[in-house]
Amino acid sequence: MILLGVNIDHCATVRQARYRAANTPAGGAVEPDPVLFAQLAERAGADGITVHLREDRRHIQERDVWRLRESIATRLNLEMACTPEMLAFALRLRPEAVCLVPESRQEITTEGGLEVAGALDRVRACVEPLAAAGIEVSLFIDPDERQITAAAKVAAPWVELHTGAYAHAFHGPGRQREFQRLRLGAAAAHALGLRVNAGHGINYVNIHELRTLPHLQELNIGHSLISRALFTGVEEAVSEMRRRMNP
Ligand code: PXP
Repeated sequence: MILLGVNIDHCATVRQARYRAANTPAGGAVEPDPVLFAQLAERAGADGITVHLREDRRHIQERDVWRLRESIATRLNLEMACTPEMLAFALRLRPEAVCLVPESRQEITTEGGLEVAGALDRVRACVEPLAAAGIEVSLFIDPDERQITAAAKVAAPWVELHTGAYAHAFHGPGRQREFQRLRLGAAAAHALGLRVNAGHGINYVNIHELRTLPHLQELNIGHSLISRALFTGVEEAVSEMRRRMNP
């Protein structure tokens, strides 16, 4: 059974498009509320809720994260940059899980995952205190042996394999090559004792193939769920994705 983490960032993107200047991210006329999206997603069987609190606060705001912390019934997965400020925030928040993601240019690998191999000390400085606080840490990396080996070196229990290159190549000639990279990456991570998640660009079509990746435990999906929810409502969008993940 593959688990579904619902990423609600783009619900906040819609809200910010209209209410960026409002002095509160919830209440009054301010909508849509990502916390309500999260609650409906849980009702439809989401196994966890994911948010990325970006340095530029372009979608999710701090208050959203605290409201989620108090109101969701599943697991909160906080995506964040590997910085001292975000580390301090996560240690106050105590989410069930943290996924370290790149934000600035120098943190990004060629495909767009976190540069772990070239920044072992920096990543370790985030992973260790989080793990000591009982927070499960995942690293969002390319399906690249160098990064996978580095993830094992810094003792992160999870990796989230970046499926963006595969999703991008899906309708073109590079699809099989990208899928093979993901397969090999999942197998290599598993062989090193890492647990395997995946995310980015997963939709109702590519899920048919992606779900066959070996050792997959959880998928984090945002954009396609939020897009579908515009037409079907949140609960149907989430249930349909779960059916396709685990037919
Ligand atoms: N996983 C990670 C680490 C992400 O940063 C994101 C959002 O970019 C996702 C998964 C979800 O991607 P999408 O919105 O394309 O489903």
